Amino acid sequence: MIKKGIILSGGMGTRMSPLTKAVNKQLLPIYDKPLIFYPLSILMLAKIKDILIIVNKGQLSQYKKIIPNGNNIGVNITYKEQSSPRGLPDAFILGQKFIGKDNVALILGDNFFYGQNLTKQLLNSVKLKKGAKIILHKVNKPELYGVAKIDKRKKVINIKEKPKKFLSDLAITGLYFFDNNVVNYAKKLKPSKRKELEIVDLINKYKKNKKLTADLIGRGGAWLDSGSIEDFYKTSSFVSAIENRQGFKIACLEEIALNNKWISKKEVKNAIQFYGNCEYSNYLKKLID
Ligand code: TTP
Repeated sequence: MIKKGIILSGGMGTRMSPLTKAVNKQLLPIYDKPLIFYPLSILMLAKIKDILIIVNKGQLSQYKKIIPNGNNIGVNITYKEQSSPRGLPDAFILGQKFIGKDNVALILGDNFFYGQNLTKQLLNSVKLKKGAKIILHKVNKPELYGVAKIDKRKKVINIKEKPKKFLSDLAITGLYFFDNNVVNYAKKLKPSKRKELEIVDLINKYKKNKKLTADLIGRGGAWLDSGSIEDFYKTSSFVSAIENRQGFKIACLEEIALNNKWISKKEVKNAIQFYGNCEYSNYLKKLID
């Protein structure tokens, strides 16, 4: 069982400058909450309680204003600063102590997942004992993503970053599950031409050993990554449409914690005090009425 998860929440957010000059991208709003709530909610739905959030230099105090610790949501939050964006596998080098001898999940701070079977799928993925698992989603323009080709048994047979020639239309999303070898593999990686450690190189190590499997998010599920301003608006509209139609919130952390029985009404009341008089608090009030 994977009980630890890392949220990689640093980065430069270059494509969203000037918005990201003073504030980290993951603290910007997706509709009614900061972006970081969404990947955090995914780890919580996977019943992962030990969470390391990696942030970029200078942003720690800002993060702590929004998520001071995990007390009100029943999780243990540890923070670590990344001095510069050295690439996604850096998560496992920075996270070595946090990971210890355990297996670990990684989610990118700007990835949004939503869909009917998602929780079931997550609970299945955290059962991973050996090897690695990536999560794939069909996209219209595979040439813009890292993609994977799989066989009938969902073993990954080929992966390629931004393929010019068609290989597969299954994009590799920003959610990964690894056994403990990931730390050693990450430490052995060499930076690529763009001077970053590459996640494709890391998962290729598992593929070479025939230890890489994949799960698909079907057409009933959504995966969005928010790298550009346009993406932010699209994801925000998606959340707004669903929340206003259904009256349920996506990624309400206290609601997930309450459902997981990690917290009681008391913590929800604390959370209401913490957020103050706002729409999010009104939603929390309804949960405990
Ligand atoms: P990217 O989209 O590669 O980078 P970015 O979000 O900083 O955006 P830009 O390309 O516009 O500069 O990163 C994906 C996610 O991973 C994002 O949430 C930031 C995070 N990240 C880190 O925390 N550390 C890193 O070293 C890298 C490369 C990314």
